[in-house]
Formats: sequence, structure tokens, C-alpha cells
Amino acid sequence: MGFGDLSGRTVVITGASKGIGARACRALARAGASVVGLARSEDDLAALKSELNGDGLAFDYKVVDLVAADAADRLDALMSAHVPDVFINNAGATRPAAFQDVTVEDFDDIMRLNLKAGFFATQAAVKAMKAFPRPEVSRSIIHMSSMLGRVALPGRVVYAATKHALEGLTKAMALDLAEDGIRVNSICPTYIETPLTQPLLENPVFRGFVAEKMPLSTPQQPIGQVGDLDGALLFLTDSALSDLVTGTNLVVDGGWTAQ
Ligand SMILES: NC(=O)c1ccc[n+]([C@@H]2O[C@H](COP(=O)([O-])OP(=O)(O)OC[C@H]3O[C@@H](n4cnc5c(N)ncnc54)[C@H](OP(=O)(O)O)[C@@H]3O)[C@@H](O)[C@H]2O)c1
Repeated sequence: MGFGDLSGRTVVITGASKGIGARACRALARAGASVVGLARSEDDLAALKSELNGDGLAFDYKVVDLVAADAADRLDALMSAHVPDVFINNAGATRPAAFQDVTVEDFDDIMRLNLKAGFFATQAAVKAMKAFPRPEVSRSIIHMSSMLGRVALPGRVVYAATKHALEGLTKAMALDLAEDGIRVNSICPTYIETPLTQPLLENPVFRGFVAEKMPLSTPQQPIGQVGDLDGALLFLTDSALSDLVTGTNLVVDGGWTAQ
């Protein structure tokens, strides 16, 4: 197996139906991985399966609501059926609001999905990994964090809190799981055009602000695109490339947080 060849590796990823997750499924399946995508929208998942299987690539999906009462049991069952070499905790949401305007419902919903559901989905993945003998190459957990796990912006208090928590979780998990040969890292993207950010980025003032803040922004590509994360995902997924990398974050922000 050469660098970037994921043949024989099983990747399970949450939030696979849209945006960054759907692109990750495409990129990792094209690198040879057998990818299992989880989300709620069956139509989107089925379309992705049809596209990827049609290209001869290995992709399957399971419809799971990560915040549903039965999520833990469903995740245990599906991780046992598709034991991941790599688990990507990607599903997430945002509900921008100034600190004083955050409701208990907003707080609970975003914390529940971005932090609690991601935490326990990852725990189910690790349980399945540890039930198998440690393979020759390390296994990998990737938390889809954000540059807002490192810095903040006005009106993003709850989202930033969840992503800062993911950064701490990454480091602590890396220490707990090193003895099992499981690496734990995060990816911290800047604004990327997806269904999540569309309502924000369709505002020309906000779009201009994002382009202005990102030193690598160009007139041709002012805003980050889902494909800009392919390299980071492949690097952290492929143990041949990142076997000694754990407990760290890979910032893909066009220089935003270097300022
Ligand atoms: N886009 C950005 O600028 C950006 C920047 C930094 C970090 N991120 C992070 O990257 C991740 C993906 O973001 P994105 O922009 O790709 O968002 P997106 O386009 O809104 O996609 C979110 C994904 O999460 C899934 N999801 C949401 N709630 C779920 C639930 N209860 N159960 C199962 N799946 C659920 C959605 O699928 P269903 O609706 O089908 O369930 C969808 O596949 C998030 O963690 C986000 O915080 C994004």
C-alpha cells in the first residue's frame, strides 16, 4: 500500500449526507476506503451511494438520528457490523445568536448534537475498535472541529463552546487511547460553502467579511470549498502518512487564525 491508498480500511463518518461529510465520503472512497456514512436524510444518502457505487467505489449508509433516544443502541449495533479503522465525528450544527439571546433550547440542541452525540458516537466506535485485536497500523479518530474551536467570532457563543470542547476532548482522548493504537486528532476548518453556511454566506456583507479575514482568499476562490479539506482528511485517515500524529489539530483556515 502506498501513501494515500486506503484499500482495506473501513471509514465510518457521521453527517455524511451533505456538505463536508458527503465530500469526505467521496474523497475517502476514491482513495480506496470502504466508507459507511451516517445521517438522517435517506434520499441524500441513497443518491450518494448510487453515485459512488456506480463509480465502482465502496460506500454504504445507515439512517441514524444521532440525538434520538435509540441512538446509542443503533450505533453499537452498526459499529459492530462495520468495525471502523477510522471514525470521523463530523455531524454538527450552528444557531448563531448573541450571548444574551441564546435560549435554553438553542443551548441544549447545539450542545446535544455537537458535543454529547459526537462524544457517544465516538465512544461506540472505540468500543467496536477495541473489541478487535490491535491491527499493525494505527486506527484513527477525527473530530470535525472548527477554527471556532481556537478563536471566536461575535454571535457564535454556543457553537464556539462546543468546538473548543472538542479540542480538549481530542487531546484527552489521544492520551486515553494511545495504548490501544488509536490516534485522535481534529480538523479546524474556516468557513466552507455548505448547506450549513449557505444562509450566512449568501449575505454579501458577511461573505465579504469572510474573504477579507482569510489571507489566502482570492477573487477566483474567495471562500473555502469542501474539497479544500480532502488533504487533511486523507492525511489523518492514512496511518502511513500520520502514524505518529495524535492529540493535535489540523487547521485549514487560509491563515485566518494566524493573525
Ligand atoms: N461549513 C463550514 O464552514 C464549517 C466550518 C468549520 C467546521 N464545520 C463543521 O463541519 C461539520 C459539517 O459541517 P457542514 O458544513 O458539512 O454542515 P451541513 O452541510 O449542515 O451538514 C451537516 C451534516 O450533519 C448531519 N446531521 C445533522 N444533525 C444530525 C443528527 N441529529 N443526526 C445525524 N446526522 C445529523 C446532516 O445530515 P441530515 O440532515 O441528513 O441528518 C448533515 O449530513 C460540522 O461539525 C461543522 O460544525 C463546518
